[in-house]
Amino acid sequence: MTAFLRLSGIHKRFGPVAALSGVDLAVGPGEVLGLVGENGAGKSTLMRIIGGVHAPSEGRIEIDGVEVDRLTVPRAIAAGIAFVHQELSNFDNLTVAENIFLGRMPTRGGPLRLVDTRALNADADVLLTRLGATFAGDTPLSRLSLAQMQLAEIAKALSLNARLVIMDEPTSSLTATETERLLTVVDSLRASGVSIIFITHRLSEIEWLADRVTVLRDGRHVADLERDDVTAPVMIRHMIGRDLKSVYTPPVAPPGAPVLQVTGLRTPRYPDRPVDLTVRRGEILGLAGLIGAGRTELAETIFGLTPALGGEVVLDGAPVRLTTPRQAIAQGVFLVPEDRKAHGLILDFPITQNISLPSLGQLARRGLVDRRAETVLAERQKAALDLRASNLDLPASALSGGNQQKVVLARWLALSPRVILFDEPTRGVDVGAKAEIYRLMRALSDEGVGVLMISSDMEEVIGVSDRVIVMHEGRIAGSLTRDQLSEHAILSLAVGQPENARHA
Ligand SMILES: Nc1ncnc2c1ncn2[C@@H]1O[C@H](COP(=O)(O)OP(=O)(O)OP(=O)(O)O)[C@@H](O)[C@H]1O
Ligand SMILES: [Mg+2]
Repeated sequence: MTAFLRLSGIHKRFGPVAALSGVDLAVGPGEVLGLVGENGAGKSTLMRIIGGVHAPSEGRIEIDGVEVDRLTVPRAIAAGIAFVHQELSNFDNLTVAENIFLGRMPTRGGPLRLVDTRALNADADVLLTRLGATFAGDTPLSRLSLAQMQLAEIAKALSLNARLVIMDEPTSSLTATETERLLTVVDSLRASGVSIIFITHRLSEIEWLADRVTVLRDGRHVADLERDDVTAPVMIRHMIGRDLKSVYTPPVAPPGAPVLQVTGLRTPRYPDRPVDLTVRRGEILGLAGLIGAGRTELAETIFGLTPALGGEVVLDGAPVRLTTPRQAIAQGVFLVPEDRKAHGLILDFPITQNISLPSLGQLARRGLVDRRAETVLAERQKAALDLRASNLDLPASALSGGNQQKVVLARWLALSPRVILFDEPTRGVDVGAKAEIYRLMRALSDEGVGVLMISSDMEEVIGVSDRVIVMHEGRIAGSLTRDQLSEHAILSLAVGQPENARHA
């Protein structure tokens, strides 16, 4: 096969950090190459090299068999390499069609070179129809869901005659149904001869989709797998260098007394739909539902980030007022947020300070932060969570996605939690780290900490939770015990069709 793109012996160093050491990768026309590896393995860095964003420190890049000596962003685009980004928020005031043809819009030919909106929208609609999109080119970008935004991005790639489309964790924020639709679109791109590099931590997606897989570990190229070897256990063995046995651990004891009791809690988004829920000692309570069902708002309201319009929160039998995050934290109620960039991390700050942030009160001596104690704390948390960072003085932005998530966790575990609300705790986290986070959640719960986990990942909800409550449009649609748990039961409740379920 003449590869469309071939990289050989790629090295990339960031100062003392070797992000990539001797990586080879090739992708042929009409081929889906899966790229897998633990957090920090170097996947995104490699993709930025292909996109011309980073120059490799060493190595050879060939496109159509011809060596490219300096790949820049414009050259990569000209060669037909396109990225599907997750966020386009900068251009929120544009329509889908304007975004697709940004800088290349058809004009009406007069002296003013006015945009021919009709032609523009028609051109966009052709592409969108081909992708099975249910929205038109004249829709404002701000009205699209994340999944629709990705389709718009793929349409843009097609409009640029992309020959290679790079997708770096495109499904991490999609629902099960949206994910399925996206995988189908990728399948049809492949059929039309486009090459795809697909990065995901959900190995079942790779099993379904990939023609071949390249595995990275610690910046090294450890395996190329052909279709028949593309199975989760084989990929995991190469990714982490050993077999991964039990990902989920059962509780040590049956659930005990309630730790957190919420009654009649009303959130601003669904003011007329009061919510009741109970998290018991020793159980992990899953909170499932479609995106927009109100799960994050519920967690944020309990945490005091969003003001409650009414209702009661009882901790270990005593009513508490949690009207600000500060009060919640003082009571030992913590939120590990979904959007770690917006709410969780200060990206420009060193990792150490991101970890120590809520512990500063305890670390201060006579009003000054004890820097040594702060470092000790950060080092201890780094070891406890197996945080992969060469240096804790680096800004949090230098960490890979999964390791950023561990920093958010590290900060709360340094305090003494009574309740932790996890919102999509393993989004973008690799299999090994996922297993660690599950073990951690289980250990917390076994120790009597109330654990509530919001998750859109079905496998995770079913594997981790001892009980699941399902939200539908702001209300609790039902509650499922461990033995009632199935994807079907959860989805039926999530779409508002109660079935075999008791009310919460
Ligand atoms: N600009 C940078 N400066 C310093 N180090 C960096 C920079 N960008 C990446 N790194 C480091 O390079 C390594 C590889 O990171 P990369 O983001 O490519 O991993 P990844 O495989 O995409 O991980 P994830 O699955 O978590 O997204 C990490 O150790 C990361 O900290
Ligand atoms: Mg990455």
